[in-house]
Amino acid sequence: MKNFSKSTIYQIYPKSFCDSNGDGVGDIRGIIEKLDYIRSLGVDYIWSTPFFKSPMNDNGYDIEDYLDINPMFGNMEDVTELITEAGKRGLGIIFDMVFNHTSTEHEWFKRALAGEEKYMNYYIFRDGNADEPPTNWQSKFGGSAWEYVPSLGKWYLHLFDVTQADLNWDNPEVRNELKKVILFWKDKGVRGFRFDVVNLISKPEIFRDDEEGDGRRFYTDGPHVHEYLKELVADTGIEDMLTVGEMSSTCIDHCIRYTDPGEKELSMCFNFHHLKIDYKDGEKWELQRPDYDKLKDIFREWQLRMQEKNGWNAVFWCNHDQPRVVSRLGDEHKYWKESAKMLACSIHMLRGTPYIYQGEEIGMMNPHFDKIEDYRDVESINYYKILRESGKSKEEALHILGERSRDNSRTPMQWDNTKYAGFSEAEPWISLPEDREGVNVYDQEADEDSVLNFYRKLVKLRKEYEVIRDGSIEFIFDSVKEILAYKRVGEDGDILVLNNMSKDEVSLPQSIDMTGRKILLSNYDESRISGIDVLRPYECIVIQ
Ligand code: NOJ
Repeated sequence: MKNFSKSTIYQIYPKSFCDSNGDGVGDIRGIIEKLDYIRSLGVDYIWSTPFFKSPMNDNGYDIEDYLDINPMFGNMEDVTELITEAGKRGLGIIFDMVFNHTSTEHEWFKRALAGEEKYMNYYIFRDGNADEPPTNWQSKFGGSAWEYVPSLGKWYLHLFDVTQADLNWDNPEVRNELKKVILFWKDKGVRGFRFDVVNLISKPEIFRDDEEGDGRRFYTDGPHVHEYLKELVADTGIEDMLTVGEMSSTCIDHCIRYTDPGEKELSMCFNFHHLKIDYKDGEKWELQRPDYDKLKDIFREWQLRMQEKNGWNAVFWCNHDQPRVVSRLGDEHKYWKESAKMLACSIHMLRGTPYIYQGEEIGMMNPHFDKIEDYRDVESINYYKILRESGKSKEEALHILGERSRDNSRTPMQWDNTKYAGFSEAEPWISLPEDREGVNVYDQEADEDSVLNFYRKLVKLRKEYEVIRDGSIEFIFDSVKEILAYKRVGEDGDILVLNNMSKDEVSLPQSIDMTGRKILLSNYDESRISGIDVLRPYECIVIQ
């Protein structure tokens, strides 16, 4: 298995990245137009979320045909050109493989619905009465995880939307079909794969009610998940490609197994525990202030255990499912720039492979939509109804969506300061934030001190310093809640990474003598000559 500690990955949500044909929706040719920009960031790979044929109920995570392109985004020629043109610029393309489920529009599911036994075995059908689902499990988008099909007298399982039917991985024919998909794209020159919610693929033998939760404890990191992943990887020969698994509600022990090179499963995985520190009692739709003690505990535990046991993390704050991190953990006003840079620094210097989600590199923020009509995401729309039914007022429900909705990260990429931010000539499929002055690529290219240029420096430092890539990690100053600080220890020397996560000045428990030390990067211009005793609001410093 190859090591990807030197790489940085740029994530694209094609629908919102760049619209080349003026229909208000981003497309593949739009990505091609922006390849030089992506290259200028210094990143090595581009992960694009799915652009395969799909009814788009979950914006492409509901796939109708894994081997065909959604005309909304372009065609096979465009995809081939994207792979080739990216390759010329030293960029590898990572495709998103949604293998836990297909769209109910997929031919396999249609044939299952028509009663063809072969295809019924591709999915998870259970007998039952129309008024009694097989279990009480809940869909991750709200409501029951089962849907009844009257013509068959059976229920099918959908852990996500009702139009996303879970595949039956216990059926070897399903596993073989999915291997063919990998081989098809590998042959076209794709250099890596991201596997969507891949730790949910192996369901338990016996389905029973969950008296304690929504059912996830029965199918998360399920009984055969490691075996199935090993088989998929070995049979498609992708051991040395970049593979990243999206792990839903996982645990460290499993992530060690997924990513220990000796296991030959995946290069790295995403987990989301650090992004739940503002969920009240673990509930996504209940707000609370971010708990920084918890955040530090989670980073410490995951970083140290993965290091000790040879696991490898994908490190990130943002993606297409998460609100913008500056709005969430930083400051949208006075310290916008400082906090955007500090958040970048705090994550990029960790042990792991960093991901940058489109717009993060210019400090994009949540759009603060104030009406339900602004929302497009299936999960947000479902939960708005659920919140209203649970007694929340319109304002309360909208406030919660404003903080939590996945649409927060799906607004168009801000390329310049024109009406539609240079994303499109036409009105975009989803609105832009109104307040976005200076938060665009054009303005930030011209400013040496911009958030954009700070990201470029972070990516470059990783290439230059072995310690950032492969050094070990130790956490320091644990007692100060607001400070996330760590030391990286490597063969080419050590570095100290200090981040003040708060808007106040914070004293260090111990002053840092700067004699013989050098600042590699910081977000305040004034240099610290003799020593460091306090960190200014949202200050970050990397010291060699
Ligand atoms: C995780 C993806 O990131 C998300 O956008 C999608 O809705 C679910 N998996 C279901 O595929």
